[in-house]
Amino acid sequence: MCGIIGILGKNDVAPSILAGLKRLEYRGYDSAGVATVMTGQLDRRRAPGKLSALEAVMEERPLGGPTGIGHTRWATHGAPTKTNAHPHATERVSVVHNGIIENFAELRQELIDNGAVFESETDAEVCPQLITHYLETQNCAPAEAFHNAIKRMRGAFAFAAIFSGEDDLMICARKGSPLAIGHGDGEMYLGSDAYALAPFTNRITYLDEGDWAVIRRAGVDIFDNGGKKVLRPETISSASAGIVEKDGHRHFMAKEIHEQPEVVAHTISRYVDPVSKTIKLPDGAFDFAALDRLTISACGTAFYAGQISKYWFERWAKLPVEVDIASELRYRDVPYTPNGGALFISQSGETADTLAALRDAKSYGQKIAAVINVPESSIARESDIIFPIAAGPEVGVASTKAFTCQLVALACIAIAAGRARGILTLQDEIEIVGALLETPRKLSEALKASGSIEKIAHDIAKAEDILYIGRGVSYPLAMEGALKLKEISYIHAEGYAAGELKHGPIALIDENLPVVVIAPLDAHFEKTVSNMQELMARGGKALLMSCKKGLQQAGDGIWTSIEIPETDNMLAPIVYAVPIQLLAYFTATTKGTDVDQPRNLAKSVTVE
Ligand code: G6P
Repeated sequence: MCGIIGILGKNDVAPSILAGLKRLEYRGYDSAGVATVMTGQLDRRRAPGKLSALEAVMEERPLGGPTGIGHTRWATHGAPTKTNAHPHATERVSVVHNGIIENFAELRQELIDNGAVFESETDAEVCPQLITHYLETQNCAPAEAFHNAIKRMRGAFAFAAIFSGEDDLMICARKGSPLAIGHGDGEMYLGSDAYALAPFTNRITYLDEGDWAVIRRAGVDIFDNGGKKVLRPETISSASAGIVEKDGHRHFMAKEIHEQPEVVAHTISRYVDPVSKTIKLPDGAFDFAALDRLTISACGTAFYAGQISKYWFERWAKLPVEVDIASELRYRDVPYTPNGGALFISQSGETADTLAALRDAKSYGQKIAAVINVPESSIARESDIIFPIAAGPEVGVASTKAFTCQLVALACIAIAAGRARGILTLQDEIEIVGALLETPRKLSEALKASGSIEKIAHDIAKAEDILYIGRGVSYPLAMEGALKLKEISYIHAEGYAAGELKHGPIALIDENLPVVVIAPLDAHFEKTVSNMQELMARGGKALLMSCKKGLQQAGDGIWTSIEIPETDNMLAPIVYAVPIQLLAYFTATTKGTDVDQPRNLAKSVTVE
C-alpha cells in the first residue's frame, strides 16, 4: 500500500509534494514524510499520524530543494512511528517504498553483518542500505547501485530514490505496485497513480511490471527487468486535477451516500437504452451463449457485490457462477474450463489481492473482465473487457456509492447474459430494466429515512456486538452491513444467512445484542420473519428493515424498524444498501470515530 510521489522541479518542490500526497492519502495515513536534495544535500521531514501532522512539522521547519520524494504510509512492518515513517535514508540516498520486501530479514542481517546501522523496524529500510552498500563498497554509479539493489529484493513493491550530490536524478522501480511517470515542461513527476499527478500534468507513462526508470528533467530512460532499455507509451490521463470536496456534508462518506441516486443513474445510462429498455454492453464483452462458467472474485465490499450478482446470473442466465474472495482464489485448484470467463470487481482497480487473482485466472486461459471505477487502473489495463461504473471519485474509506454502482453494472451484465443464453425473453428484459430504471428514485426515497436512522444509531452505538441477517440476495447484503459497521464504528458485527442463525449464533442472543433483519417483502419474507420471531422469543432486539407492507405484516414485539421503499425483489439490495450505510454512518458519528479514515484501514490495498 502507501502512496509515493516524486518531483524534479524548477523551484522548491516540498509544497507540491504535500499537495500530491494529499491526493494519495486514500492509500494509507499512518504517517508521512518528504525528502529533498538541496545544493547536493539530502534532508527529510517525517511525522506519525495524518498528513496534517507532517504539514505542521514542515511549517515549522520548511524543506527547500527542487528535487524531492514524498510518502504516505500504511504500516506493514513496524508501528506507525516517526522512525518507521518514510523516506528511509542513509547519507547517500533517500528512498520511499510501497509494498512488501519478502526477504528483508535476511538482507537486513547481511547488511548488519557488513556494518550497516538500521534505525527503523521496517522492511523498506533495507533498500537505502543496500543501495548505499553498492555505492560505497563497489563504487557503483547511482543507477547501477539501484538496479543491483532491486535485483536482490523479492516481493511486490514500488520504489523511488533520490541521491546526495544529484540534483537532477530520481530512480524508481515497479514490481507489483503501480507507478506512473508524469511529463512536465522541463519538470518530471512520479506518482503511485495518475490522479496524484493530475495537478501537475496529464502526460503519463505507466511502468510495466518489472520496469525501472532513471528520470531526469530532460526525460526518462526506462529499463525492463533484464536491464534492457525499453519504450513505454506516453498517454493522456483523464484524471481530474480538481480536489474532491465534501459539498457541505460533514464527511465524504455522507456525501457519497447522498450521491447515490445520481451516480446510480449515470451507471444505468452506460448500460441501458432507456427507450427500448434493453441492455447494451461494451463491445467485445463475453460471448455469454458459449460461456460455460463464470468465476467472480473481489475483496471487501466489492466481493459482496459479486456475491449478490451470483443470484442474478443464476436466476436470469442459468450460468454456473462461483464467487470467491481474491486473497483465497489462487490457493485453490479452481476447475477452470476452456470456455470459462472470470470477472473481477474493484473500485480502485489497484487491490493487490484482486490483481493477483486476475493474473492467476489469466494464466488458465480465462477471458478476463473487470467491473471498475478507475478506468486507468492496473486491473482495468490487464483486463480483456472493462465494465466501467460511473461512481466518480470515492474518498471515504468505507465503500458506499461504488457498491451500488457495481451492483447496477453487474445486474446489467447478468440481464445481457440471460438474453444471450435464451433464458430471459425480450419482455423479461424490458421488465427487469424497467425496475432498474426506478432505482435512482427509490434511492432518493430511502435517503429520507436518514433522521429516523440517526435516532436508532444512538442505541446501536451502545452495543458491543451486532448481528445482521438476510436470505437470498439479502444475505450478502447482511454481510456488507456488518462490514460497514465494523469498518467505521469499530463495533463487532457479523452477517449471517437468516436460516443459519439457529445453527449457532442464536446462542449469542440476549437483550444487549441488536439484530438487524433485512427483509424485503419477497418470497423469503415469511421465513426471515420467523427467524426474527425465534430471536425475539429469546429476548433478542430486532431492527427490521422492510417496506411499509412488510412492516405491517411482521407482527408485534419488534424493537425498532426502518421503512424502505417497495422495490423489485431481485434488485432490493441496491436500495437496501442505503439504510445499511446510513446506520453504520450515524453509529460512527455518534461514537465520534474517524468516519472517512477509520483506524488501520486504507482505501486502496496494494499489499497481499
Ligand atoms: C479495502 C477497502 C474496502 C474495499 C476493498 C476492496 O479493504 O477498505 O472498502 O471494499 O478494499 O477495494 P477495491 O478498490 O478493490 O474495490
